[in-house]
Amino acid sequence: MLEKLSSRVQNLKPSPTLAISAKAKQLRAQGIDVIGFGAGEPDFDTPLFIKEAAIKALMEGQTKYAPAAGIPPLREALAEKFSKENGIDYKPSEIVVSAGAKNLLFLIFLMLLNEGDEVLVPTPYWVSYTEQIKLFGGKPVEVPTEEEKGFSLSLEDIKPFVTDRTKVLILNSPNNPTGAVIEEKELKRIAEFCLDKGIFIISDECYEAFTYDGFKHISTASLDEEIKKITFTVNAFSKTYSMTGWRVGYVGCPNEEFAKVLTNLNSQSISNVTTFAQYGALEALKNPEARKFVEKMRTTFERRRDLILSKLMEIPDVKVNTPKGAFYVFPNFRNWVAKFNDDIEFAAYLLDEAKVAVVPGSAFGYEGFLRISYCNSDDEIIEGMERIKKAIERLS
Ligand SMILES: Cc1ncc(COP(=O)(O)O)c(C=O)c1O
Repeated sequence: MLEKLSSRVQNLKPSPTLAISAKAKQLRAQGIDVIGFGAGEPDFDTPLFIKEAAIKALMEGQTKYAPAAGIPPLREALAEKFSKENGIDYKPSEIVVSAGAKNLLFLIFLMLLNEGDEVLVPTPYWVSYTEQIKLFGGKPVEVPTEEEKGFSLSLEDIKPFVTDRTKVLILNSPNNPTGAVIEEKELKRIAEFCLDKGIFIISDECYEAFTYDGFKHISTASLDEEIKKITFTVNAFSKTYSMTGWRVGYVGCPNEEFAKVLTNLNSQSISNVTTFAQYGALEALKNPEARKFVEKMRTTFERRRDLILSKLMEIPDVKVNTPKGAFYVFPNFRNWVAKFNDDIEFAAYLLDEAKVAVVPGSAFGYEGFLRISYCNSDDEIIEGMERIKKAIERLS
């Protein structure tokens, strides 16, 4: 049966992060007290005023097909958002709304990649980049970043991997899974290099709202007009407004032509993002209460980051960087992983022994580490890290 599948999907892997969250949920449903640190989503509910705006739209009959690129007021509000918050001037016609950042990335790879085109993927990387690239015949080229430098990407990391087939560089600052950010000066060096070499940049800025220690997120396309012309700025409502299940993402394109192709791809695949969900997203941009909500989440995450770091430091032979963004820590457990075949087995041990769900680093192309999301209450963080510590003590 499987041999009847297209060669493109033969080796397609499911998202390991979604799989681990599903496993943790399943165990909990069986009455097992599992603490889940696997999820890549805020533990806050979507604000009521956003839900109410969507309900209102639904009740007023916004239940039909909508324009494939997104409803006009949302694209206009996004142009305003890009200008005010990111310092990028996109026309509404350069912006396309689709079913989450994930689907936009999928469509951008479909639009750009020919067989054998290479995409530079700074590693550790978010799990879907490599699978999506391969689906469209592209070749993901892993660009390792250094733990000693806090996993922050530099131009020197990239240069050895550039060939005449390099078509795209992915930037993801703040990064999933490391929480690393790229400082403005380095970002500029990288972007100017890409401009010079004719390499497109996909700047995945899904975690822009969550930065710490006073670090201010810088959008790649804001650096200058020429850089903007090679950059796709991908973002979503998912993390910023805790709207992961709504499936609303957006992209600012280098020009209208690219936006038109993405719109056509939308129109031939999803048609449009659920119409009333787009009205909810519009409210998130328009309602001043939304800013306060995001800031409340940001300060909560910053506090939890400090808490989880302090607890991780109590675990022997574990090294961890202080992430400047997102809501993950990516500690080095190599000393302990060495007692197992690999980090997948180690994560399975923690699930069985400690009843704690975490994602092994190999899922992100970086063996021997764990991604631990801190979208959990303080009590869960304290209890979860204590459980990991005890399970580890049993190994020595
Ligand atoms: C780096 C990164 N990009 C994109 C996405 C996808 O976000 P969305 O829910 O908008 O599809 C995620 C979600 O985990 C992510 O971590």
